[in-house]
Amino acid sequence: MTQPFIEAFFDEPTNTISYLVGDSATQSAAVIDPVLDFDIASGVADTRSAERILDFAREHKWRIEMVLETHAHADHLSAAPFIKAQTGAWIGIGAHIRNVQKIFRPVFAMDDLKTDGSDFDRLFEDGERFVIGSLDVEVLHVPGHTPADIAYRIGDAAFVGDTLFMPDYGTARADFPGGDARTLYRSIRRLLALPETTRLFLCHDYKAPGRDEYRWETTVGEQRRSSVHVHDGVNEDDFVAMREQRDAGLSAPRLLLPSIQVNIRAGHFQPAEANGVSYLRIPVKWKGESA
Ligand SMILES: [Fe+2]
Repeated sequence: MTQPFIEAFFDEPTNTISYLVGDSATQSAAVIDPVLDFDIASGVADTRSAERILDFAREHKWRIEMVLETHAHADHLSAAPFIKAQTGAWIGIGAHIRNVQKIFRPVFAMDDLKTDGSDFDRLFEDGERFVIGSLDVEVLHVPGHTPADIAYRIGDAAFVGDTLFMPDYGTARADFPGGDARTLYRSIRRLLALPETTRLFLCHDYKAPGRDEYRWETTVGEQRRSSVHVHDGVNEDDFVAMREQRDAGLSAPRLLLPSIQVNIRAGHFQPAEANGVSYLRIPVKWKGESA
């Protein structure tokens, strides 16, 4: 089995890891989950994180052919359109993004938003396969964190998005609209049924109590032995109870509202108003009111 070349890029402001995954035989490459820098206080967007990836690709002669999103992120804006504009890469995401678009279109009153996924170039179904050069990629639909999460399995590696975190930290939240802890548990068990030596590459790391450095690579075996949330022996009901209790105490991610409305448009801001400026929408509600 040909193994992929993998380079990780860590974005500390959002604790996100983006990856360049390359096929050494052809120099074809994919970028997974690129981050657009965004300062919410000033409204200023900046491409320096994505440029780091492009610079690396240029230096090492990788030809970026695709941008692969694991899901519509709720904590950072996607730089997929910038990478596409710079390289001609296409943008892919799980086909269930349509459900996510349908959930959030009314929340943001985005009447122009298409909910057929056509803002993206490719929509992946569970089990679908495609190639990065001569590397085979298998798509696994792993819903729970959101309805549309997918993992990309490439050689002995799997890019699992926001399903699992490092074993000492646990799992992703499942309380966003369309998220579900029981579904997340089943998706995680599916990932943990892969061969034990499968390397898992995560989308986030927040360190864990007692750990000083960021880490984003683990294995199926390590998760099954020592994940604080889903080691072998933790059953579905126990997981659901833990996850739901934990989620009830979590606050909204800092960039939640900007991220969702931009990322369900494949990383595009809303069309500019007559004055040429794009705006973000913040639905206002009173404390205690539901969405
Ligand atoms: Fe996420």
